[in-house]
Amino acid sequence: MGRKFFVGGNFKMNGTISSIKGIIDNLNNAKLDPETEVVIAPPSAYLLLAREHLRQGIEVAAQNVFDKPNGAFTGEISVEQLKDLGITWTLVGHSERRVLLQEEDSFVASKTKAAVDGGLGVILCCGESLEQREAGKTIDVVTSQLKAVADKVSDWSKIVIAYEPIWAIGTGKVATTEQAQEVHAEIREWLKKEVSPEAADNTRILYGGSVSDKNCVDLTKQPDIDGFLVGGASLKPAFIDIINSKM
Ligand code: G3P
Repeated sequence: MGRKFFVGGNFKMNGTISSIKGIIDNLNNAKLDPETEVVIAPPSAYLLLAREHLRQGIEVAAQNVFDKPNGAFTGEISVEQLKDLGITWTLVGHSERRVLLQEEDSFVASKTKAAVDGGLGVILCCGESLEQREAGKTIDVVTSQLKAVADKVSDWSKIVIAYEPIWAIGTGKVATTEQAQEVHAEIREWLKKEVSPEAADNTRILYGGSVSDKNCVDLTKQPDIDGFLVGGASLKPAFIDIINSKM
């Protein structure tokens, strides 16, 4: 069986009750490609609202999760609490958290482990800065981010990798299809060597960074691009076209 195409919408810290309901109504009423798995990640304050309004078949992800089960961790949300809300996925390791909140690889790995052990799907984000790319370090950076996870997690069946070059996020500067494919293929090769041939075959590798209805179709044609993690465009009606980009 091939890898099911996957499109995630990361709303980041955007939206209100009214605008999020609007996005959800749009998704609920749209004809979506049944061959594509769709997951939206609203801000934590709106997770329950999203789950309650969204039709079955579209899943909801948190944008972050903590690695401890409960207790005195002000401001954090646990895996069990997400599951209690009917949330089945979480993002982990988004570059905005790695950079702005100084989340280290080992912390990202620990959160990934907590989520996987608890039965959540994980959209594990990785990606290099412009400086790192220009220094020829892209693959080293990405694989060391992934290795931190492989050191703690052996079962990758609930992990989807999102390759998001930082220089392409929110900039309108999408990676070329060749740039994205090259890194995705290297990630798959790394999975084969460091995790297992099965993980290499089955793990979806998404591209994220200025994906739009204009550039998505070309990206889908690359053999190692198994979907998208969409930021800005997931807040717009064009998100439907991105979900349906394989149709
Ligand atoms: O997680 C999605 C992301 O960081 C890409 O954002 O706005 O460039 O699509 P955007």
